[in-house]
Amino acid sequence: MKKILVCNQKMFLTHDEALELKKKMDEIDFSNVDLIVCPSYLNFDVFKDYKLGAQNCFYENKGAYTGEISAYDLMLLNVRYCIVGHSERRNIDTNEAINLKVKALINNMMTPIICIGETKMDKDLRRESEVIKKQLYSAIDGVLNDEIIIAYEPSWAIGNGNNLTKQEIEDSIKYIRKLLDQKNITNYKLLYGGSVNKSNIENILTDVVDGYLIGNSSVDSKQLDYISKCIK
Ligand code: 13P
Repeated sequence: MKKILVCNQKMFLTHDEALELKKKMDEIDFSNVDLIVCPSYLNFDVFKDYKLGAQNCFYENKGAYTGEISAYDLMLLNVRYCIVGHSERRNIDTNEAINLKVKALINNMMTPIICIGETKMDKDLRRESEVIKKQLYSAIDGVLNDEIIIAYEPSWAIGNGNNLTKQEIEDSIKYIRKLLDQKNITNYKLLYGGSVNKSNIENILTDVVDGYLIGNSSVDSKQLDYISKCIK
């Protein structure tokens, strides 16, 4: 089974920069990995040759929701995945809203990429396990055996070079797997995200994860090339 590599391009690229990156990505052999590209809504068209994911969605299919984009509309655009619960949005989205988004995605035949993970404060207070359990169980409430992807991405490790050690990743991933087992959830993949780059990828490679979710490195073709070759 190929490892999954999810590229969360966040709001890093203008349309022109996206076109430039796409050109460089076309030169890279990604056959090693199951690549999912999550561009901004405005850049979907640029990356339409890849498996597409969105970075967020709204749970109602249609209606008077100014500024929102529905899971339904994304599905019609051939977007097959969507990130939900990213730590950069958890100050906007409640656990309840995240669960509604997960269900809306599943109802629209899409796969949610559910981000969970503790903050620095949770870690300092040694309440990571409790926080992860709450985030996970509320996000998947009502999910049966629909395909889901869970990304363990502690916010304190994002965008700052503070990646976890391989041991820390393995411990958390095993804990999440146990939580999923307890709910009889079997149709899932587990990813790690947080400052993955070409300098640390070799040190954190582990069979315990099904893949990686990358941010900054996903918009740098050289990093992307290196990482995708390493994780085969
Ligand atoms: P970085 O890889 O830049 O730390 O971002 C990770 C992330 O937030 C992906 O969703």
